[in-house]
Amino acid sequence: MPTIEQNLKWWGKPAGWADGGERWSAPWGGTDVEWWATLYPRVRQFLPAATILEIAPGFGRWAQFLKGFCDKFIAVDLSPACIDNLKEQFAADSHVHCYVNDGRSLAMVDDRSIDFAFTFDSLPHVEADVIAAYLQELSKKLKPNGFAFIHHSNLEAYRKSLWLPKAIVPPEIAANSNGTATPRGFWMRRSLKTTLTNWGVVVNNYNNRAESVSARIFIELCDVAGLECRSQELINWNFGPWLTDCLSVVTPRGKNSPKPPRLRRNPHFMDEAEHARRTAEFYSGIPRD
Ligand SMILES: C[S@@+](CC[C@H](N)C(=O)[O-])C[C@H]1O[C@@H](n2cnc3c(N)ncnc32)[C@H](O)[C@@H]1O
Repeated sequence: MPTIEQNLKWWGKPAGWADGGERWSAPWGGTDVEWWATLYPRVRQFLPAATILEIAPGFGRWAQFLKGFCDKFIAVDLSPACIDNLKEQFAADSHVHCYVNDGRSLAMVDDRSIDFAFTFDSLPHVEADVIAAYLQELSKKLKPNGFAFIHHSNLEAYRKSLWLPKAIVPPEIAANSNGTATPRGFWMRRSLKTTLTNWGVVVNNYNNRAESVSARIFIELCDVAGLECRSQELINWNFGPWLTDCLSVVTPRGKNSPKPPRLRRNPHFMDEAEHARRTAEFYSGIPRD
């Protein structure tokens, strides 16, 4: 169960950011390919936008692209190490403003000032209380016709099946394996779990997805916050076909009656990454001299 404190521990040290997060784009062959082949097609109808907010930008893998699509770019992250890096990285960009927050509040952002809010590859690690807090904040910070694209966990949808991966690698063993002594049998258990996860026999509970968040719960939290969820794409992440993640698009609830969210179940998200990587690799191999 990732807490705000745990997230700060994971992401708060500059040492953990040696590659700026580039390793997470390995399935795509690079951050630029992931942005142009996977993210841009999903957000392009909201760009350009006068003011863009990114929640949890890390070392700016998406900020480096998003900042070029707006007059004002605001980055808010829990980790001072990340915000220090962004301030340095974007020192020459007077329209970029970076803030450390408490992991749930957007007090530094003016009400009704955001045209487009974005967060990707960060909030799957936060539980329902934090998602609820950010949705409450977004309902105040988004302009009435503003939109937010939010990547979050869908692991709660598999709550009844999570006992199996946990039985194969108990969470306390997984946690201990980060220490100096690897518990007996850990590697055998882990490789069995990885194989069964890839085969689709065992739910993918890798990558610290929040177990209290699902697409369904997200819609309920939007409703409480006064937001309307317009679409949800359920996607797999890294291992196997399980739809452990969700990409939701939300907007402030208007006067008109809410539209039912468009729903897409996409167990091929990682295949898309592989396809994009192969294409980019093929073309980058063309001799230019
Ligand atoms: C896996 S990194 C990803 C960063 C960036 N989205 C990327 O893809 O490179 C997770 C980031 O989320 C931030 N984070 C985690 N929980 C947060 C929260 N509750 N509020 C704001 N930032 C948070 C961390 O500090 C870290 O920068």
